[in-house]
Amino acid sequence: MPDRLQPLLFLEAITPYQSSVNKVEDRGGKIRLCYNEGAFGPSPRAIEAVRFSASTQHRYPDMGYARLRQALADRYNLDPLRIVCGAGSDDLIGLLVHAFMREGDEAVCSQYGFAMYPVAAKSVGAKPVMALEKEMRTDLKAMLAAVTRRTKMVFLANPNNPTGSWVARNEMNEFLRELPPHILVVYDAAYADYMEEEDYSDGFEWVGAEGRVCALRTFSKIHGLGGMRVGFCYGPKVVADALNRVRNPFNVSMAGEAAAMASLKDQTFIDNCRRHTLMWREKLADHLLAHGFRPYPSRGNFLLVGTHSPEHAQDLFRYLEERNILIRPMAGYGLADCVRISVGLEEEMKALFKVLDEYRDKHVKEGAKALKESLSEAVQ
Ligand SMILES: Cc1ncc(COP(=O)(O)O)c(C=O)c1O
Repeated sequence: MPDRLQPLLFLEAITPYQSSVNKVEDRGGKIRLCYNEGAFGPSPRAIEAVRFSASTQHRYPDMGYARLRQALADRYNLDPLRIVCGAGSDDLIGLLVHAFMREGDEAVCSQYGFAMYPVAAKSVGAKPVMALEKEMRTDLKAMLAAVTRRTKMVFLANPNNPTGSWVARNEMNEFLRELPPHILVVYDAAYADYMEEEDYSDGFEWVGAEGRVCALRTFSKIHGLGGMRVGFCYGPKVVADALNRVRNPFNVSMAGEAAAMASLKDQTFIDNCRRHTLMWREKLADHLLAHGFRPYPSRGNFLLVGTHSPEHAQDLFRYLEERNILIRPMAGYGLADCVRISVGLEEEMKALFKVLDEYRDKHVKEGAKALKESLSEAVQ
């Protein structure tokens, strides 16, 4: 018998989630372009709904959040009985893993896929198997090649965070045809609301009542409700049933349910957010390119940006941080020479552009000084 309390050994494989940019003092007065949050915040209708729900917060919420499930079913033409909500899609990712995987199983993920997938797999002692990407894009063929007898789940974010890359419907159709039928496909469409491409699918079309694909959505991005923690999973009966067994009965708060329902009704707000994000994402990419950075093509509300080296990325991060602009370093993803920048409000983008101009001027000056010094040394 052990003589002291010990957590499960396989938990040692998990690095506790750390963030260099989410300190309490970063909450106010700073320009937060580090978390892919919705630029405009919540819809005014969602704010009003939260206010309205305030006086009944002593009551527990509806365990089945029937009204929210019905609102989602109406909005996306889904079967409400196969919708399971959660405290953000992170909650649902964890629940899916707990319901379908155990020690020794494998989950196939893309090399630069969303960071919570491997963490969730490791939390039950399963092994994340990372399929290499090609030119920073999910390589579905490599994902198929990574499947073994032990594979229970495949995670795919489309569009992906942090690369911003996406895969088309026909590529996915081919992938689903080839994948063995017992493997659960977790298709994470967190950024679907920013997509305008005809050949993109939010995944609902593949979620059959008896199938093995489930689609995740979140209210944290275009709906601007990250702090509320609301997401949902649309899955086959077997998935919905399993999630309902393992979830906490009150895993969506009353305020969260009210905010999400109100936000679903505010299509004008959502359309404005999309238009703004796409326009400023393009301006941001142009600005970064003109300053010698390498923005990757993105379909999310953010850009992954290549710099010259890990030191350069760190230097840019610090320079902006000292001027109260927070962006995301990417070393945790194995992309130490990159940073990720979310699209913010117009005034935030303009402030960022100004600081990027100053940063470039500083480098030009330093470069000229270094050149002058090396020339004068050569003359001596
Ligand atoms: C691809 C992807 N999935 C899921 C999430 C988690 O979102 P939520 O706030 O709903 O937990 C994120 C958040 O950044 C994400 O980028």
